[in-house]
Amino acid sequence: MKTFYIETFGCQMNVHDSEKVVGTLIAQGYRQVPKPEEADLVLYNTCSIRDKAEQKVFSRLQQFKREAGKGKTFAVLGCVAQQEGERIFERAPHVSLVCGSASYTRLPEMLVQLEAGARRVTGLDRDTQETFETPFTRRDNPHRAYITIIEGCDKSCAYCVVPFTRGRERSRASDSIMEEARRLADEGYTEIQLLGQNVNSYRDPSSRGWDFATLLARVAEVEGIRRVRFTTSHPRDFVKEIVDAIDANPVLANHVHLPVQSGSTRVLERMQRQYTREEYLERIAWLKASPRNVAITTDIIVGFPGETEEDFEQTLSLLDEVQYDAIFSFKYSPRPNTPALALDGQVPEEEKGRRLMVLQEKQRGIQLRLHEQLVGTTQEVLVEGYNRATGQWIGRTAENRVVNFTLEGSNGHSVIGQYMHVHVTRAGPNSLAGYGV
Ligand code: SAH
Ligand code: SF4
Ligand code: F3S
Repeated sequence: MKTFYIETFGCQMNVHDSEKVVGTLIAQGYRQVPKPEEADLVLYNTCSIRDKAEQKVFSRLQQFKREAGKGKTFAVLGCVAQQEGERIFERAPHVSLVCGSASYTRLPEMLVQLEAGARRVTGLDRDTQETFETPFTRRDNPHRAYITIIEGCDKSCAYCVVPFTRGRERSRASDSIMEEARRLADEGYTEIQLLGQNVNSYRDPSSRGWDFATLLARVAEVEGIRRVRFTTSHPRDFVKEIVDAIDANPVLANHVHLPVQSGSTRVLERMQRQYTREEYLERIAWLKASPRNVAITTDIIVGFPGETEEDFEQTLSLLDEVQYDAIFSFKYSPRPNTPALALDGQVPEEEKGRRLMVLQEKQRGIQLRLHEQLVGTTQEVLVEGYNRATGQWIGRTAENRVVNFTLEGSNGHSVIGQYMHVHVTRAGPNSLAGYGV
């Protein structure tokens, strides 16, 4: 039997794409193995969002270069594949398959070509209208499932490779999404995460014509589903109806990830984000007005070309104003093909590093204070794991906070996948701790 090994880099979209690729390969008669050494076919599903991410795949390929002669086949999928295309064959001549995510529907036929001995196979079309729908998805987690609702990105943020690597926006038909949600509920999944680079611009291609808020409300009504999350939201397309939907149904998790990138309107304009600081804060105000106490998280880039000390201070003041529950922050990384390459005012690496540290230190303090307010409360968590070293279970609240807790009488009996109540006794900047009640 043919064997394969797959390693995945990058975002949740990539993680879920890999689940679909794995399902597709198994349906073609392949068996998954845990080490590249044991595999006939080695696949890397790659990320290109920052330079460091891109370098990872080339160092992996370098590592196994000599194996190629011994009948091992190498495939590069995902965002670096789409970005670099046939140049990958030059940089790593032992690679046989290069395929971007917009061409995954063609994977079965490409695998056949490889098996027939084709030396080089590519799937690099970006203008496809197809979505990667497959009945063969092999999910990693038995309780929480991803569902892709929209692929590609039609925005043009000046720093970002995604519009070049994932093709044009394609929304998936609502009946197909609903069918998958119902099937997952039947199979015992209780949490669903709807995925897209910009879920807010979801537009049902079928005659029902649902928008994203409508889709959210419908998915939350599926019998057996206890939590519905979604990611990512572009602020420009984030409408009040989404908050209304969250208010109306507690199954919709009270957590919204709303990437801001910068607190300075001047920088936002240079980034081509299509909103001002004030417009962003208006959306935050809708969320803060919700009776459900919605957790808010964000992404921030420091050191975008032309970002001055004053601009950066506006990002710091935004943190004070919004009081985010968590942030993901990055140093600006110049990327191929992107409009930001043409901007002047590059910020030195050292200064980027300093700004990142200042930002993260500030956020640490905010998170610690927010978490301390939760000491003494009881939180409902979905149990995700067990930490042998500390003897604690690991759970996650609807707001996406991690809670480590002890459980009397569990006697090593697994409670993973269950929903439990935890009394919070301690708070740290990144997690809470307590005991099951
Ligand atoms: N579609 C999502 C973003 C996906 S990329 C959205 O619009 O929110 C995830 C994050 O990576 C972005 O929000 C941004 O903060 C960061 N990022 C993207 N390109 C980057 C670059 N060139 N350098 C540094 N960080 C970047
Ligand atoms: Fe990149 Fe902007 Fe599209 Fe997000 S919305 S994927 S940051 S171009
Ligand atoms: Fe990376 Fe592509 Fe996702 S660049 S972040 S894997 S969309």
